[in-house]
Amino acid sequence: MVEEAGTKVVPRGLSRGKGRRIEYAALKGDTKPAPRTATGIGELDRVCGGGFVPGSALLVGGDPGIGKSTLLLQAVAVLAKQGLACDYISGEESVDQVRLRADRLGLADAPVRVAAATDVRDIIASLDGKNAPDVVVIDSIQTMFVDNLDSAPGSVGQVRGSAQELIRLAKRRGLTVILVGHVTKEGMIAGPRVLEHMVDTVLYFEGERGHQFRILRAVKNRFGPTDEIGVFEMTDAGLMEVPNPSALFLADRKGSVSGAAVFAGIEGTRPVLVEIQALVAPTSLGTPRRAVVGWDSSRLAMVLAVLEARCNLRLAGRDVYLNVAGGLRINEPAADLAVAAALVSAYADAPMPDETVIFGEIGLSGEIRAVAQSDIRLKEAAKLGFAQAFAPAGLRTRRHALKITEFSHLSELVDRFEIEGSKELTAET
Ligand SMILES: Nc1ncnc2c1ncn2[C@@H]1O[C@H](COP(=O)(O)OP(=O)(O)O)[C@@H](O)[C@H]1O
Ligand SMILES: [Mg+2]
Repeated sequence: MVEEAGTKVVPRGLSRGKGRRIEYAALKGDTKPAPRTATGIGELDRVCGGGFVPGSALLVGGDPGIGKSTLLLQAVAVLAKQGLACDYISGEESVDQVRLRADRLGLADAPVRVAAATDVRDIIASLDGKNAPDVVVIDSIQTMFVDNLDSAPGSVGQVRGSAQELIRLAKRRGLTVILVGHVTKEGMIAGPRVLEHMVDTVLYFEGERGHQFRILRAVKNRFGPTDEIGVFEMTDAGLMEVPNPSALFLADRKGSVSGAAVFAGIEGTRPVLVEIQALVAPTSLGTPRRAVVGWDSSRLAMVLAVLEARCNLRLAGRDVYLNVAGGLRINEPAADLAVAAALVSAYADAPMPDETVIFGEIGLSGEIRAVAQSDIRLKEAAKLGFAQAFAPAGLRTRRHALKITEFSHLSELVDRFEIEGSKELTAET
């Protein structure tokens, strides 16, 4: 509970007095599409919908240490070299620290103006003047404060108040304001979530800190598509673009092991192939463990229930672990069948057929449903040298280099693994 001191009670109805009539306009007009400032970092540009939009506010959220400062410093350095005026205002690090990072990344000669400041009044006074920049990075919004609020920097009121001032400035002066926001495990509320509805674009940086892959995901974009991802690799020289994520996610794959299935997925407009790994082991606990990394745990519970109820797999007494390799988070229902394949393969201790990708949605009765964009999935799999695809039945696709095996019920997939006992039980029921 946060006390909001001095807020007035909402008045009952409007006070008397006439309002002005609002002006209407036609839908058709000669409004130009929003201009774009491409950063030249392809993965970042795609996630933004083609580049930064002047006069807009962008929020980049993510865990501490994930690489937000690194990426944004790289982006403004590229823009500054193209001749745009770029400011980097840090409230977390001193100018020296920012310089050291720039030096390490080999960007020290980019004409970016750096400052260490936290008072929003000072920042606005500097940005509003004659030498206003085109792009400004505020790292991070949690360290900023406005002096007309008593609460501490990082509190909901301060984060919201500071952001409001900076966004207003962005709209008024036509500059791009990029706000960095930490997502903290416990303090989500004071983090970027309160800002999501205020800014035009929200990007989240995902990935495990131990992994070298970082995924930048657009969750809101007033100027472009959402659900687009950008894939980066963290190296000594900063974040490097990964133009072909499938090859990278599959790089560590070992052929012919049980409990692994390659899912042909779509992220935004791009196909992405990832390996889904499962482990099914007898439990020593009263309630078996179900642990998931990179997928929805309630979706896993559903797939397990369908395997149990419709395909007679006895999973109740077993621990189940599921992992999406490479640190990617999958949200597509099309991954159901791949997850089921990994689970059944782990349960049967038999590998999936070699060079096979799989996708399809599973319904509660065990039926396999068609999914969107099958063609793109198959094309990508063929490109990466896969020979076979397990797909929902009734696929009306063009000819592909792949052999396509169709499934209309989950039990058909289970039958392929020849699990002892499951067949007889199916016959009984
Ligand atoms: N000296 C270094 N050499 C290589 N990588 C480093 C070095 N210092 C920091 N890093 C990498 O940069 C990451 C920190 O990135 P940073 O942009 O500061 O994150 P954020 O701004 O999201 O907190 C670290 O997790 C580490 O992987
Ligand atoms: Mg930082």
